[in-house]
Amino acid sequence: MKRSRDERRLYHDLAWTWPIVSPPGRYTREAHAIRRLIRGRAPGARTLLHLGCGGGHLDKTLKRAFEITGVDLSPAMLALARRLNPDVAYRVGDMRSIRLRRTFDAVVIADSIAYMLTNRELLAAFGTAFVHLVPGGVFLTYVERTPATFRQDATTRAIARRGDVEVVLIENQHDPDPADTTYESTFVYLIRRRGRLRIETDRHRLGLFPLPVWRGLLRRAGFRVTQLVGEPDRRGARGNATFVCVRPAIDR
Ligand SMILES: C[S@@+](CC[C@H](N)C(=O)[O-])C[C@H]1O[C@@H](n2cnc3c(N)ncnc32)[C@H](O)[C@@H]1O
Repeated sequence: MKRSRDERRLYHDLAWTWPIVSPPGRYTREAHAIRRLIRGRAPGARTLLHLGCGGGHLDKTLKRAFEITGVDLSPAMLALARRLNPDVAYRVGDMRSIRLRRTFDAVVIADSIAYMLTNRELLAAFGTAFVHLVPGGVFLTYVERTPATFRQDATTRAIARRGDVEVVLIENQHDPDPADTTYESTFVYLIRRRGRLRIETDRHRLGLFPLPVWRGLLRRAGFRVTQLVGEPDRRGARGNATFVCVRPAIDR
């Protein structure tokens, strides 16, 4: 099966479009929901490690409740995050392998968990969360798409404007091989600035795992796992799930 390249230009040379196509205000509800879920398990939680923090849009709200350390693979996304949240500590790193040699009261991996492509990568990211938590600390992550909710060739179109820039973003999701744990998102950007049109394309590979695989790997990483229906701010959306996990006081 021939795979398309995993370009992820949205996090590199096209990162400047991120605050336009996915502005910080869109993350406010989600951030409040995450805060409530963490505090529900650990009322005194103060420090938070955010793996795959991207442009810091969630952090803009989360930082009112937590002292955040943000980690992301992309220097371009971290530059945006630092501009938005100069009061947050950010560093480049891979959620599968980074070791900061300190622990936190809570760890969050939000939408960026979708970039884990195999069971091994997902387990590695959960392992990173585990080793950075204090005993009794809370790890929150969520599932936006599973094989059961995936719709072959679902295509969306969004239009966003800021100043004299307009971006029309078309996204197509396609799974060339339902037997493996990945699918492809292909983007077309129509970028117009003062009447001049620029057309760019981008390809991302993302992971697709059944919910029992998520649960099993979280338990294997050592967590006590609670599975909630739906994403943090869209509870009840069947097929998707939020996992609120606790590092037991005594490791199993
Ligand atoms: C959709 S963006 C996250 C946006 C973020 N929720 C925000 O508030 O701005 C996904 C991010 O995941 C990051 N990412 C993908 N794989 C990663 C990995 N292995 N380790 C760390 N970050 C990763 C990308 O660089 C990208 O910035």
